[in-house]
Amino acid sequence: MRESIGNIVITGGSGFIGRTLAQRLREQWPGTGIIHGLSSRDADLTDRPTTFRWFEQFQAKGPITHIFHLAAVYKAGGWPATHPATQFDANMALNINLLEAWKRHCPGARLTSVVSYCMYPDHDRPHPESEMYGTEPEAYLYAYAFTKKALIIGQRAYCQEFKLSATSVVLPTVYGPNDSFAEDSHVMGALIGKFCRAVREGKNTVEVWGDGLQEREFIHVEDAADGIIAAAARATSPFLNLGMGQGVSIKRIAEIIRQESGFKGEVVFNPQRFVGARFRVLCSDLAVKEIGWRPRISIETGIRRTIAFYLEKAGRI
Ligand SMILES: NC(=O)c1ccc[n+]([C@@H]2O[C@H](COP(=O)([O-])OP(=O)(O)OC[C@H]3O[C@@H](n4cnc5c(N)ncnc54)[C@H](OP(=O)(O)O)[C@@H]3O)[C@@H](O)[C@H]2O)c1
Repeated sequence: MRESIGNIVITGGSGFIGRTLAQRLREQWPGTGIIHGLSSRDADLTDRPTTFRWFEQFQAKGPITHIFHLAAVYKAGGWPATHPATQFDANMALNINLLEAWKRHCPGARLTSVVSYCMYPDHDRPHPESEMYGTEPEAYLYAYAFTKKALIIGQRAYCQEFKLSATSVVLPTVYGPNDSFAEDSHVMGALIGKFCRAVREGKNTVEVWGDGLQEREFIHVEDAADGIIAAAARATSPFLNLGMGQGVSIKRIAEIIRQESGFKGEVVFNPQRFVGARFRVLCSDLAVKEIGWRPRISIETGIRRTIAFYLEKAGRI
């Protein structure tokens, strides 16, 4: 187990997963020094001098032993299809700047980055890691997916040339407390927001995008954070899938949310709206074998807890 005794940087530390990751690290690695969740307000990682300056100054406070690289520019829904160059430019810039800052200012740190299952090809079978380079990713997230593949290739290059240490985890759609519940968010957060607002406002219908038959994999943010930590501590592979191992149809997700939110009206599926991939599930056998990680939170429990969070916190905003 390679825990941290020095300081930790979490890029994307102000984001959805980053905040839970910081909290879990504090609980699981109590001997750690400073755990800094870096946001774009600390340093715009697309700007190289700013990135270098920030890492130099933070390293001066004490050795950085781990970097968790989560920062990324991504928006759910149809945005990636209309902004592939914007996404490519920002994500490539922040990834290469981060890699170079790591090498220059804290080469002793272990880098653990987070990538996404949109890198895998568009077919209806679970994806093993061996599919990573063999084929092309799904079309509408093509540029974004390649920035993630480029990150893995970059990590490999830096490890090879400068003898650094790194790994990555591939996540499916993550959900849970602190997610965005706006209508154009990832499907889980979007639906939880829609159903809860419909109950509050006494609406009779909730619209669900697509025909409901598309199957996706969802992982609770606490399981994701625990997997990231386990990978940082024990992974020897360059990247590992962290998924539930099975898909759930959007229809089923909508039904669970409907029940848990107490919505009594009609659920209307709209196949004209944005649908995305028809099927996406990871094969996560390697993570079980290599780092002994398994998700613990069922989809029903996870949705119940997320709705409770929404009603308590986000629903009031
Ligand atoms: N959420 C998912 O379902 C999911 C699934 C698979 C993989 N992932 C991956 O997991 C990682 C975290 O996802 P998330 O959902 O937690 O993302 P998020 O909530 O959108 O947070 C993005 C983070 O990146 C930071 N960031 C963006 N541009 C930056 C810049 N130019 N300089 C510095 N920081 C910048 C943001 O900082 P500010 O708050 O200051 O803008 C924020 O902390 C991403 O790499 C994503 O690709 C997520």
